[in-house]
Amino acid sequence: MEPAEGSVEPAERSVEPRGGIPVDRGGAPVNMTARRAWPGVVERYRDRLPVGPSTPVVTLLEGGTPLLPAPVLSARTGCEVHLKIEGANPTGSFKDRGMTVAVSKAVEEGSRAVLCASTGNTSASAAAYAARAALTCAVLVPDGKVAAGKLAQALVHGATVLAVDGSFDDCLTLARDLADHYPVTLVNSVNPFRIQGQKTVAFEIVEALGRAPDVHCIPVGNAGNITATWLGYREAAELGLAAARPVMRGFQAAGAAPLVHGQPVPRPSTIATAIRIGKPASAAGARQAVAESGGGLAAVTDRQIMAAYRLLAREEGVFVEMASAAAVAGLLALAAEGSIERGSLVVATLTGNGLKDPDWAVNGAPPPLQMPVDSRAAARALDLEG
Ligand code: F0G
Repeated sequence: MEPAEGSVEPAERSVEPRGGIPVDRGGAPVNMTARRAWPGVVERYRDRLPVGPSTPVVTLLEGGTPLLPAPVLSARTGCEVHLKIEGANPTGSFKDRGMTVAVSKAVEEGSRAVLCASTGNTSASAAAYAARAALTCAVLVPDGKVAAGKLAQALVHGATVLAVDGSFDDCLTLARDLADHYPVTLVNSVNPFRIQGQKTVAFEIVEALGRAPDVHCIPVGNAGNITATWLGYREAAELGLAAARPVMRGFQAAGAAPLVHGQPVPRPSTIATAIRIGKPASAAGARQAVAESGGGLAAVTDRQIMAAYRLLAREEGVFVEMASAAAVAGLLALAAEGSIERGSLVVATLTGNGLKDPDWAVNGAPPPLQMPVDSRAAARALDLEG
């Protein structure tokens, strides 16, 4: 009999009772193994990733994120807009797609420690996957410029956090230097395995839409994600999964837009701390993506980012972090200037979960109303009394 889709081959099933509990080959209790559920990006796209039968897969079952239709943005832009909710990944950002591959390869290569520079999300993801793999993890972050939730994640997963007196770009220089001279694996997106994992977002989008979108909007910081997303679309087209490839539109924050200005920004500044980067490591990949796809790189102001952040939360019901809102701010700007054809099928990557950085949400809203245990007072406060 053919095994049902998603089930494990009989040879792999080899159930060995351990302490009375049947476990599978990976050591997980059989009853807890959701065989038919989403298997994580490595198992789902194994044949398109640089893993072999002996690669120990370190996964938190990342990927398989929602592609959410956006009616309000569609009405505003005259396009059919879908949001790829990458904040639904296990650590709350798209970084998990690349981290599962990078950490799996690090373990395969016998590494005992991983290291990264980060504006916050990479460090949260590296710390979680390192914990899962029982590796040591060190993260270098710009002191005072990382959202509280992201720092909490790195700390709770047991990473050693170095708060560097410098920018993200300084942190990355330091991290590369350490990885060159000491036995630690660098898991920034300069690690090619990260890009390989992150490309899977394009495969999922093509599967969900049945084609590639016409336009893909994405925030750009260190430029790994636009590089990876474009790679994924190219491969999907080469494999015949999509007839065409989208136009790639990357957006940087106006105070941190080295790719728009064509030169490094020594002191980048923006409320979107995740993309507060002045010298993107994957600049060449970003330029290639927009050149090959006929797209472009543009800047959006902090004010535009904030407006998109509020619109997403209040009108689409999606809570993202500031950097993610840059993609939507960019889309709205393109539509306003008439640079996007009406009726286009558009996908915007929403890279990270808003809960990582609640300060902006709380500060931008009126404080909760203090209330006694009194239904009349509550009704008055809610304007229910006519
Ligand atoms: N959005 C979020 C939420 C991010 O955390 C990042 C990058 C980006 C967008 C930009 O992606 O760098 O591939 O162009 N965060 C990195 C980090 C730099 O350290 O977490 P990119």
